[in-house]
Amino acid sequence: MNITKILSDEHQTILKVIDAVLKECNEIENGKVLEIGFFQKTIDFIKNYADKFHHAKEEDILFKAMLENIENLHCNPIPVMLHEHDEGRKYVKGMDDGLTNSDTRQILENARGYCFLLQQHIYKEDNVLYPMAEEALSDEQKDLVNQRYQKIESELNKEMKMVDLKFM
Ligand SMILES: [Fe+2]
Ligand SMILES: [Fe+2]
Repeated sequence: MNITKILSDEHQTILKVIDAVLKECNEIENGKVLEIGFFQKTIDFIKNYADKFHHAKEEDILFKAMLENIENLHCNPIPVMLHEHDEGRKYVKGMDDGLTNSDTRQILENARGYCFLLQQHIYKEDNVLYPMAEEALSDEQKDLVNQRYQKIESELNKEMKMVDLKFM
C-alpha cells in the first residue's frame, strides 16, 4: 500500500507551474511586458492547489500520521517542512503585495523566491520525507491515511475544478 505517490504526482503539477513562472520572470527581465493576469492565476493556483489541496493533505493527514509514529522515525523533519510551507505563504503574500503596488521588482523577487523554495522543498519530500513515511506506517495506518485523503479530496474537488491549470 502506498500513501505518497498521490502527493508526488501533485508535486509534478506544481513543478510544471514553477517552470512556467521562472520562464515568465526571465522573459520579463529581458523586456517582456508584465501581464498581471499571469501572476494572478499563479497566485490563485498556489493558494488553491499547492496550499489548500496539496499542503492540506500533508499538514492535516500525512504529517500527523507520521508524528503519531514518531518512534519509527530516525529524525523529525516535520517542523522544517511546516516552516517551509509558511515561508512559501510569505512569498505569495509578497507577490500579492507586489501586484497591489504595481511593483515589478517585488513581484519577480517573491515569485522566484517561492519557486526556488518549493523546488528544494519538493525534492526533500520526494526523496527523504515520503520514503520515511512509507517505512514508518503500518498497512492499517496507511489505509486510514488514504481514506482521509479521499475525504478531503471530495470536499475540495468542486473548488479544485475551478482552478485554471492551463494558463502556463
Ligand atoms: Fe510540503
Ligand atoms: Fe509536498
